[in-house]
Amino acid sequence: MKTLASYDAIPYESIPITETHVDGLAALGRLFGVSTADPRRCRVLELGCAEGGNLLPMAFYLPDSEFVGIDLSARQVADGRRLVAELALGNITLLHRDVMDGADDLGRFDYIIAHGLYSWVPAPVRERLLALCATNLAPDGIAYLSWNALPGWHTRAIMRDMLRHHTREASDARVRLDMAYLFLEEYGAALAAEAGDLAPILETEVEYLKQAPPSYLYHEYLTETNEPMLFSDFMTQARGHGLRYVADVDLHTLLPETLGQAAGQVAAEIDEREARIQAMDFMRARRFHRSLLTHAATPVYDVPDLAVLRTLAFHADLSSDAEIDLRSPAAQPFVTATGSRYAVKHPLAKAAAMWLTARYPGGVAYTELYQAAAGIVATHGDAALATEEDALAGELLDLLAWGGVRVALDATPRANEPPARPRTHTLARAQLKHGGDCVASVRHTAVHLDEAGAHLLGLLDGQRDLDALVTAMRARLDPSLDPASIRDGCERLLWTFARNGLLETS
Ligand SMILES: C[S@@+](CC[C@H](N)C(=O)[O-])C[C@H]1O[C@@H](n2cnc3c(N)ncnc32)[C@H](O)[C@@H]1O
Repeated sequence: MKTLASYDAIPYESIPITETHVDGLAALGRLFGVSTADPRRCRVLELGCAEGGNLLPMAFYLPDSEFVGIDLSARQVADGRRLVAELALGNITLLHRDVMDGADDLGRFDYIIAHGLYSWVPAPVRERLLALCATNLAPDGIAYLSWNALPGWHTRAIMRDMLRHHTREASDARVRLDMAYLFLEEYGAALAAEAGDLAPILETEVEYLKQAPPSYLYHEYLTETNEPMLFSDFMTQARGHGLRYVADVDLHTLLPETLGQAAGQVAAEIDEREARIQAMDFMRARRFHRSLLTHAATPVYDVPDLAVLRTLAFHADLSSDAEIDLRSPAAQPFVTATGSRYAVKHPLAKAAAMWLTARYPGGVAYTELYQAAAGIVATHGDAALATEEDALAGELLDLLAWGGVRVALDATPRANEPPARPRTHTLARAQLKHGGDCVASVRHTAVHLDEAGAHLLGLLDGQRDLDALVTAMRARLDPSLDPASIRDGCERLLWTFARNGLLETS
């Protein structure tokens, strides 16, 4: 049986890739004028799906949509199928197949996802992948392709060259991985001392790789094929297959105004869109793209349409330690649960951030968000600013461009407090049982659990209250630990679980 031995030996950590969620892809496509399919009733194909860790949570939460995953590694597909069977999901199929064999028998798809595939396969497979997108994408479909970009990847390639050279004699994947980690340990300090101008870059690289998951280190730095390219070359290939660029999911990379003044001015003077993006890639020394494509025949706007933005829904988890100033447009820092910081200025945007956070992981439609924010500003801030709706739309777009808020079609409210006797959600329970330390949140983020977190999540059977959970955790943890700190830790984790939608709500 044909398989991909390297991924059978070192399976890829298969987790939700937030930016590939079809609800977000649908909304982004619409912002650029594509009439994307309703994510609740669509067909989705993922190429190089590994164990299905990205596709499966979408299939779980969107039962009326259909999901097909293709991967050449027999082991990963078999592992993924076990979880699909355990959850008895009838709307997802994982196929052990080579992209080279195409998907003519699978019909058209509204969304095609290929994350971590395009740069990591040889040129003929890249061609086939684009041809498959052109053939199998529905007329208003969106294809998401991530790929390593130049010029930024040149700096990463220095470390890759060294690691590949250092491990070249070994054939066993695990041995090569061990050698690579040893190299990072042993050479790290020397590189810092001896590498001259390159020392800061190499030091950062070494630290980055020491923290990276082993499967990433192996398949990015030790694997044979990893071919970063320029945006213009990527687009030449895509156009050759009748595909057109829609946007990148990292919207700020399309907008000259997100660069410093000098660079922004140079970029803004370049009329042709793709040439402008290429120039901005140079200025940012960009190393990664997450590009959305559609058919060449589908018209696409150059910039996001603010009128469409006003028809969409938003979700965000942004908090601020400071007292929120609703009287002036002074910038205030807001921080996501993962520590990313955003400066929010207009009182309406600050009030919107508070409103979204109070509802997270639920979504809020723009019209409701504006009404709520205007009500808060009128009551607790400068009422004259409450009517500046344009400012809210503009700042939301800015936050969206930088990843501070996410856009969606789904505005469903969701519970976000732990009940008295919490019960773990079916999907999270199955993922825990499957042996991972990562479960999927309802917002398609990867929730990594340490041992205590995984144990607590496993204990939530709907029978135990907080006292019973603390007693059970004390029995599991070091008995000399202060009971009050165990209680605090349990409470904090239960809130985290609730805000990630990991608990049953009825
Ligand atoms: C870097 S991993 C990315 C996995 C997953 N998409 C993710 O990002 O988490 C690449 C995946 O593509 C699969 N793959 C590589 N070449 C393939 C081919 N020709 N046909 C199908 N799958 C392939 C590998 O088995 C592997 O699971």
